[in-house]
Amino acid sequence: MSFDFFAPCPRGLEAALVSELIETAKNRLPPGAMSVGAEVPGGVHFRGNWAGGMAANLHSRIASRVLLKIAQRPYRDEHDIYELAREQRWDQWFTANETLRVDITAIKSPLRSLEFATLRVKDGICDRMRDKAGARPSIDTTYPDVRVFAFLTATDCTLYLDTSGEPLFKRGWRLDKGAAPLRENLAAGILRLTGWTAGTPLYDPMCGSGTFLAEAAQVALDIAPGLDRSFGFERLKQAEMAAWRHLKSEANTARNTAQSGKRDLLIFGSDISDVMLDKARANFKRAGFGNVPLKQLDARNMTPPASGAGVLVVNPPYGERIEVRGRNARGEARPTAREMRGDDDDGFRRIQDDTPDPEFFHALGDALKQRFTDWRAFFLTSDRKLPGQLRLREAAKTPLYNGALECRLFRFDLIAGSVRQRPASKPAAPEDQDDAQ
Ligand SMILES: C[S@@+](CC[C@H](N)C(=O)[O-])C[C@H]1O[C@@H](n2cnc3c(N)ncnc32)[C@H](O)[C@@H]1O
Repeated sequence: MSFDFFAPCPRGLEAALVSELIETAKNRLPPGAMSVGAEVPGGVHFRGNWAGGMAANLHSRIASRVLLKIAQRPYRDEHDIYELAREQRWDQWFTANETLRVDITAIKSPLRSLEFATLRVKDGICDRMRDKAGARPSIDTTYPDVRVFAFLTATDCTLYLDTSGEPLFKRGWRLDKGAAPLRENLAAGILRLTGWTAGTPLYDPMCGSGTFLAEAAQVALDIAPGLDRSFGFERLKQAEMAAWRHLKSEANTARNTAQSGKRDLLIFGSDISDVMLDKARANFKRAGFGNVPLKQLDARNMTPPASGAGVLVVNPPYGERIEVRGRNARGEARPTAREMRGDDDDGFRRIQDDTPDPEFFHALGDALKQRFTDWRAFFLTSDRKLPGQLRLREAAKTPLYNGALECRLFRFDLIAGSVRQRPASKPAAPEDQDDAQ
């Protein structure tokens, strides 16, 4: 049996998700199990059998969820939405003993209250269940067994059954987070955009809780991102659990094979904060890889951690002046307010203002120019003026969303003799204000 699926993802990563799903179809599934369809803003459509949907859950590092399409129809009002929900054979998918949650996303919907529309979808499902099964599921918005998503456009309502459960960026091993951790699927998508492949040196000099590094290590060690977690489809009546056991056993074999051929991962991290490094170490231990060297270091003093060209990827703090613990921008010892209060917990002092410390980024740009010849550096930031601050001209910039925050992924090619520089004082080029790439 074949289904239509939709895999939502962080905006800006749709093309990366298409290529990831095509790889999954080719490398992890028999022919015909999954066929990847169109990308739309915020996700990718694909068609497949149960194994296809399960493999997307197990192997996608970029998707946020995998949704199974139940029905789609034009609507005019909440009553039409109720009727659509009531007509579906929900009792084929789950029992009244399962708890339920309904969510609605809308783009240009004419409806006045999405909350009311959500209630009508819930009522439609519950009324149908009561008619057919004699009982209705109860609602649990925190830990539901089953989730239904409704998507409204100006004209159409689509109902989806969620096959993921907890969102897919929850890999199951990250418990220790910093103040501004990246979502795992955004980090994984960025890694794919950088073109990094296992065996090439990778370095995050402000690694925090280590999201880029952990995602890269999982790629290098062929660890399926969903191997250690459960999924919503495990609660659905129709899910083909034999196909699931087969996929999981193959993913376990792949991980064991990669780990037995132990090699140097060439994945490195550093951070000014020993507290953050401890969090990263605890995460890596839980995720099952211990051989990612981490060093406490001010990023301005960074040097390439391996010989040869590599990829540097980082999301620096933004919207805060960075005052490095015990040192000012010139490297002179100076206690921060937090240190003086004795409650230093993340290694740098945040002063909420919208001007990133220019001296810090000048020094960081100098470190890149002087020491990282032939590397490619990628910065994720919401600060469009970052290239000017680094005094480097970007080779590319890609719009990405970190949650609701609009960001850019800037690429700098540090090719010997041709590093493109720009003076810090130069006004922002018109293309810096463009939304398009
Ligand atoms: C936005 S967070 C990075 C989050 C990280 N990508 C993660 O997933 O957890 C920025 C990091 O920069 C570090 N940092 C701040 N100033 C630094 C400096 N001068 N040198 C190195 N790291 C610094 C902070 O300790 C923090 O962990």
